[in-house]
Amino acid sequence: MATSYPLTDHTCDVVVVGAGGAGLRATFGMAAAGLDTICLTKVFPTRSHTVAAQGGISAALANMGEDDWRFHFYDTVKGSDWLGDQDAIEYMCREAPAAIIELEHYGVPFSRTPEGKIYQRAFGGMTTHYGKGQAQRTCAAADRTGHAILHTLYQQSLKHSARFLVEWFALDLIMGPEGDCRGVLAWNLDDGTLHRFNAHLTVLATGGYGRAYFSCTSAHTCTGDGNAMALRAGIPCQDMEFVQFHPTGIYGSGCLITEGARGEGGFLVNAQGERFMERYAPSAKDLASRDVVSRAMTMEIREGRGVGPDKDHIHLRLDHLEPKILHERLPGISETAKIFAGIDLTKEPVPVLPTVHYNMGGVPTNYHGEVVTLKNGDPDHVVPGLMAIGEAACVSVHGANRLGSNSLLDLVVFGRAAALRAREVVKKGGRPRPLPKGAGAGTLDRFDCLRNAKGSEPTAAIRLAMQRTMQNDAAVFRTGETLAQGVAKMKDVFASFAKVGVSDRGLVWNSDLVETWELDNLLRQALVTVVSAENRKESRGGHAREDFAERDDANWMKHTVAWIDDAGKVSLDYRPVHMTTLTAEVQTIPPKPRVY
Ligand code: FUM
Repeated sequence: MATSYPLTDHTCDVVVVGAGGAGLRATFGMAAAGLDTICLTKVFPTRSHTVAAQGGISAALANMGEDDWRFHFYDTVKGSDWLGDQDAIEYMCREAPAAIIELEHYGVPFSRTPEGKIYQRAFGGMTTHYGKGQAQRTCAAADRTGHAILHTLYQQSLKHSARFLVEWFALDLIMGPEGDCRGVLAWNLDDGTLHRFNAHLTVLATGGYGRAYFSCTSAHTCTGDGNAMALRAGIPCQDMEFVQFHPTGIYGSGCLITEGARGEGGFLVNAQGERFMERYAPSAKDLASRDVVSRAMTMEIREGRGVGPDKDHIHLRLDHLEPKILHERLPGISETAKIFAGIDLTKEPVPVLPTVHYNMGGVPTNYHGEVVTLKNGDPDHVVPGLMAIGEAACVSVHGANRLGSNSLLDLVVFGRAAALRAREVVKKGGRPRPLPKGAGAGTLDRFDCLRNAKGSEPTAAIRLAMQRTMQNDAAVFRTGETLAQGVAKMKDVFASFAKVGVSDRGLVWNSDLVETWELDNLLRQALVTVVSAENRKESRGGHAREDFAERDDANWMKHTVAWIDDAGKVSLDYRPVHMTTLTAEVQTIPPKPRVY
């Protein structure tokens, strides 16, 4: 072990890594159950990326018209392009109304209807009567819903006396000899000290890895640290080829313009001023699901109907809406459009382009939040002591494509489910299985090695090469050729990390070492993503291949499971999609063509 890094040991019942919506919901649920819960977070809780969620959180409350959680279930299965696990989807959609009422009681300041009910807007792919009508299912706090929810969940966590370690960076999981998780090794970015946490349960709530791409709506902190920790511990990630492009990132900056803008009546036009979505999705139009809209926009640009001097983007029109509506319901994006596109959206169209927004893939779990892996022929083998929730997890409720506003729901429903499970499986006050002798030694060696890396390649240069490769070769449309090129280039970029040079070896927050560790995390996920994509020879949801344009249920209705070693060798396997429901209250939806 590198002796120059003294370790401080801590013991608790649960350690939660990450303080976004999922991490906070789990943290306070576990603390409320009397479990000694520590939440480690890289940034101050209310700066977690959930704060940027705009349009809302879905639940069939029926405040604005008829609705039923079974319609929501149907829409989510269809939105997932039949890659979602139907037991988990049933759980999420059934729990959704109660989860929203719970949030309301905790203090989330939702927007209101004139009668005082929670306001709900239309979102893509959300229908009534199994695709026949347009649902208004997305509960909103103007266009700052994530902000409202995150602050409320943090207040609840403080109320329940959860312990927070803020600006702590989790480096690696600590695994036991039986493949169980015993805790985590983390770095206090404030004073540079290193710590081992020994817990009954470790919960990864670290969000997605949008920053593997050049243009994304994700915060700079979205480096998928938990996914990478799992991969380094020999635990696979699942369905990583499914990356969601949000149709309306601001052209140039990638900042999000909420889908709620289209939910409130906005629409997309090409250079001829045509509402082209009418051709691609005659029934849902601009409110088709995100993969469909992003592909349509890309087709318009490819066929020469993009707007701007380079005909390389699309216009979102909101200028026909009442300024009062824009002011009340979409105040945040009015400001964003002014700052990042320099336009007044009450008068001018917003220049937009599909932008990476969400990772459907992540650490595989069951609907209790427990991490599962393939072992000895069991596709649902639970990894003892380890949970994953939120965007870090692949439950899988989103399958091949997530519906807008199902993400905030996923966070609170499965954050809560993890807390309920923890209450069942953790013996309060009992000692967790001890850390193995010398636990964390390998991590500290790597830490020291990176800290002293004096290679020729700056961290930022390797990161840029990765981001450009992913942006170009694992894009909205993919072909065997672009993917093979992406795999070859990503292997080179991955290999170039051996030549990284770290310029600032400090042990506190602004150290180059943090970004270098994050880069290592991103590189593993980027390579797994592109290899998984090359291997999937069909089109499904967010994975659209021009050389295999159809969905192929006979051969590919299965989850990709991927491992990667330190040398960058990716191994793939597959596990079946759960096609059964939990109760007789709802029927399995068999696969059928997905049209909007
Ligand atoms: O468009 C949006 O407001 C994003 C919502 C989501 O990704 O769920």
